[in-house]
Amino acid sequence: MKPYEAIHEEIGRLQESKTFKRETEIESEQGAVVRVAGKEVVMLASNNYLGLSSHPRIKQAAIRGIQEYGHGVSSVRFLCGTLTIHRKLEEKIANFVGTEDSILFSSCFTANEGYFASIVNETLGHDTYRDVLYSDQLNHASIIDGTRLCRAEAVSRKVYKHADVADLRRQLDEDRGSGFRFGTILTDGVFSMEGDLAPLPELVQIAREAGHVLFVDDSHAVGVVGETGRGTAEALGVHGRIDVISGTLGKAMGGAAGGYVAGKKELVTYLRQKSRPYTFSNSLPPSIVMAAIEAFTMLEEDTGIVGRLHENTAYFRQHIRALGFRILEGTHPIVPIMLGEAAVAMDMSNALLDEGVYIKGLWYPVVPKGEARLRAQISAALDKATLDRALSAFEIVGKRMRII
Ligand SMILES: Cc1ncc(COP(=O)(O)O)c(C=O)c1O
Repeated sequence: MKPYEAIHEEIGRLQESKTFKRETEIESEQGAVVRVAGKEVVMLASNNYLGLSSHPRIKQAAIRGIQEYGHGVSSVRFLCGTLTIHRKLEEKIANFVGTEDSILFSSCFTANEGYFASIVNETLGHDTYRDVLYSDQLNHASIIDGTRLCRAEAVSRKVYKHADVADLRRQLDEDRGSGFRFGTILTDGVFSMEGDLAPLPELVQIAREAGHVLFVDDSHAVGVVGETGRGTAEALGVHGRIDVISGTLGKAMGGAAGGYVAGKKELVTYLRQKSRPYTFSNSLPPSIVMAAIEAFTMLEEDTGIVGRLHENTAYFRQHIRALGFRILEGTHPIVPIMLGEAAVAMDMSNALLDEGVYIKGLWYPVVPKGEARLRAQISAALDKATLDRALSAFEIVGKRMRII
């Protein structure tokens, strides 16, 4: 086979099966309303939950970062790439999410990859011991890939049914006495396809009983859920009781880039020594670091913006339901609008764009067959008039397509 033949075939297969992802170009900054093909449309597909991606305070902080520290640091952290502001941000994150310390990565994807591979592969003793990982079935791709980087002979990788504590307990019971050394239970805090929250209080208890570590990826939760935006643990009453939290700076907290792992001081010290995407990859640029510091400061000073996000979410959920659409119930700003067939989700997403709403559809294999949906994501940046504009577009398209 010629080198590019397989690639060509696979692209063809994606197009035929209608799973080829198309990118829509946006001509403006990210906000409640964006410009697409010269037209202003309401944005309902962004992780810009707090509207900070283009908030004046965040933009100013990023500019200050460049003015004071330059564009880049031209180094990894342990050579000459650690600025005072890197440490300041790491302390702020730890304090916010309720752990002793934290460590920055260039994204949450690399944070998750960097965590598991280093914990499993970089410790000695696997000639006599194995580690064990119990992962929720719907965990994010970065957790799956992170665990795949663990050497097979060093770890036993297990998957429990989504949010099913009984299934997890059953697997732990089966493994009792197996002599695993380091055990971890891994879960997203909020699951991005459904907008549901992991059963953290039960998982905290199970991890304690089993002597395992609980790892929570709170990318869709920090700045988003909990009364003060401190994440899934705050929302479910277990803030400060999660062993390890990873998260992104690329969604609510400024929306640019960057991720972190937060946990015990000793763990963070270990990761600085052993985590390869940290050790061998460039430090986060000053503009992003300063903007993220500002984002956390804004939430420390005033949680009104989180309250606005929660109000907007409740408003949208109530009205979209009242129009007759079927949604997955919950409280998160991710609102899945269930449509069934992939073709319906595709057509509706296109029709809504024509009517002035930017929203994306999800279908198999991203979600189970027959459960195609549009995923609305609500932002604090939206005002009531803009939400109403989006809702009336849903009404027009929904009626025209005979969905409502
Ligand atoms: C749960 C979860 N973890 C990790 C990531 C990756 O974050 P980042 O964009 O910082 O790599 C995402 C982003 O989609 C996510 O939803």
